Amino acid sequence: MRLFCIFVALATIGKHIDTAAKTLENGGLVAIPTETVYGLAANALNEAAVLKIFEAKQRPFFDPLIIHIASLTDVSKYAELTDARLKSLAEGFWPGPLTLLLPKKSIVPDLVTSGLPQVAVRVPKHELTLELLRKVNFPLAAPSANPFGYVSPTEPDHVNKQLGDKVDYILDGGKCEVGLESTIVGVEEEVVCVYRLGGLSIEEIEKEIGKVELRLNLSSDPKAPGQLKNHYAPGKPLFIGDLEVLKQKNQSKKIAAITFGDKLISDVSYVYNLSEKGETKEAAVNLFSVLRKIDETDADVIIVEPLPDEGLGRAINDRLKRAEFKS
Ligand code: TXA
Ligand code: MG
Repeated sequence: MRLFCIFVALATIGKHIDTAAKTLENGGLVAIPTETVYGLAANALNEAAVLKIFEAKQRPFFDPLIIHIASLTDVSKYAELTDARLKSLAEGFWPGPLTLLLPKKSIVPDLVTSGLPQVAVRVPKHELTLELLRKVNFPLAAPSANPFGYVSPTEPDHVNKQLGDKVDYILDGGKCEVGLESTIVGVEEEVVCVYRLGGLSIEEIEKEIGKVELRLNLSSDPKAPGQLKNHYAPGKPLFIGDLEVLKQKNQSKKIAAITFGDKLISDVSYVYNLSEKGETKEAAVNLFSVLRKIDETDADVIIVEPLPDEGLGRAINDRLKRAEFKS
């Protein structure tokens, strides 16, 4: 998989906020670090720049983009944050891995929201990117910085390998601290709904505002098209289930096994443990880079057991299900 990557021209990776700001002001693309995953950013108010994002990712236009802002006080420039529950989530968890779907103001181009009346907004928790956002006078539209459908990047090199020829600058913020995309929350008919599981757990959200409803459609859903069945997929077939059973089923193949905690497996070609300590937070940080590492091996298949279905474990299981091989 991805052998062509070696021919991709590489972008400059650096920590220069001024270079990043200038590039964005001139309508260019900059990969930005966030606590969740790296984003492929452009000036959200410049349609020509936003178009470049769709082209670079080969992303369909029906899949809208999240806009990133520097602080809660900026939200009113672009959207209406009137619902009291969403407001307390923003106050409690921004900056952080939470995206809110809010009624958009007309200043936000329809291209950003794919014509939807709501815009997805978040304040990322990464000092470099916050500094950049304070420097420019526009929000940054940024999907994850990976080709459409592939797993998200959690390190500058991940971006460079796949999109190095399409991005003008990569702002180096190191390895992402959370490793999973933001949790997406909105309100429908007065009900607070979670559309994508992510770096902020349902438990934390419910502690703040009480019960929420999960609307995680597996098929193409206009609310969160990123929830398409084949999203977050690595280049090799991935199977979820009991590791020993899956090992037997794939006897003739080169197997890469993903384990968690003290789970052991022998007689397979590769073993990657997401967290030897059995911590879901650590597993989240490692998940996407492990999938990328396996893609670079000669393994034929990936086998993995679901994690305990609580906290970040739920979001990890969600990503695994979407990465699962579908015949
Ligand atoms: O953590 C994250 O959210 C990362 C970092 C870079 O901020 N971004 C990210 O963006 O994961 P992306 O484009 O890969 O996923 C955003 C998801 C997509 O599933 C998209 O369909 C949904 O958010 N979305 C964006 N705007 C929306 C809108 N107006 N209405 C419904 N869904 C929306
Ligand atoms: Mg994405």
